[in-house]
Amino acid sequence: MRGKFITFEGGEGAGKSTQVKLLVKRLRDLGLEVVQTREPGGSPGAEALRDLLVKGDASRWSPVSETLMMYASRADHLEKVIRPALERGAWVVCDRFADSTRAYQGAGGGISPDFIEQVDQVVVGDTQPDLTLILDMPVEVGLMRAKGRGGDEDRFEAKGIGFHERLRQGFVKRAAIAPDRYKIIDANQSIESISSDIWSQAMTQFSELKGA
Ligand SMILES: Nc1ncnc2c1ncn2[C@@H]1O[C@H](COP(=O)(O)OP(=O)(O)OP(=O)(O)O)[C@@H](O)[C@H]1O
Ligand SMILES: [Mg+2]
Repeated sequence: MRGKFITFEGGEGAGKSTQVKLLVKRLRDLGLEVVQTREPGGSPGAEALRDLLVKGDASRWSPVSETLMMYASRADHLEKVIRPALERGAWVVCDRFADSTRAYQGAGGGISPDFIEQVDQVVVGDTQPDLTLILDMPVEVGLMRAKGRGGDEDRFEAKGIGFHERLRQGFVKRAAIAPDRYKIIDANQSIESISSDIWSQAMTQFSELKGA
């Protein structure tokens, strides 16, 4: 049986990477095979593209270049990692996926939603996530947290506050289109409360986890 595909989405510093780790641990504790991965990146080719995308000047790439590079890296990630894992029945938990392109390059960067959906159909096709958790919180709080994270992957952080507000709204609007798949999580809470909200959503979504 095909495995389950769970993606985490949300703005900068919302706590995605923190919560991915916690969910992966919980699923592994049940004895499930879980592949933890991330975007941009997740396969050697896609990780090489990640560096180009997340480092350097904010104006280094236009939104259309970013969209195509994101989907180029996503195609490689799907071919090499995600589809083989799902086919052998593993659960895949991915830190950001296609909804980040819809939000960052679409809502934030002004790329037409129709164009993104056309590329998505070719690249992602039927391999759509079974559950997408959108970690939502005030933009300023997330940006403060992301600064605390350090490192040089700060290209998107450097875009203005208006950009980050647009992408927050983009995630929320997207979630309304398919409420069965998208769950908005209040990320302005303690790490433990967020983790427990996420677990409740996962149990509701997947009958395999009932009673766990
Ligand atoms: N619920 C929380 N309350 C307070 N601080 C938190 C919470 N969750 C995560 N943090 C801290 O905020 C920072 C950002 O968290 P994390 O890296 O998980 O976010 P992210 O969404 O993955 O960020 P990015 O978009 O930059 O990848 C980290 O220093 C983390 O320890
Ligand atoms: Mg992260």
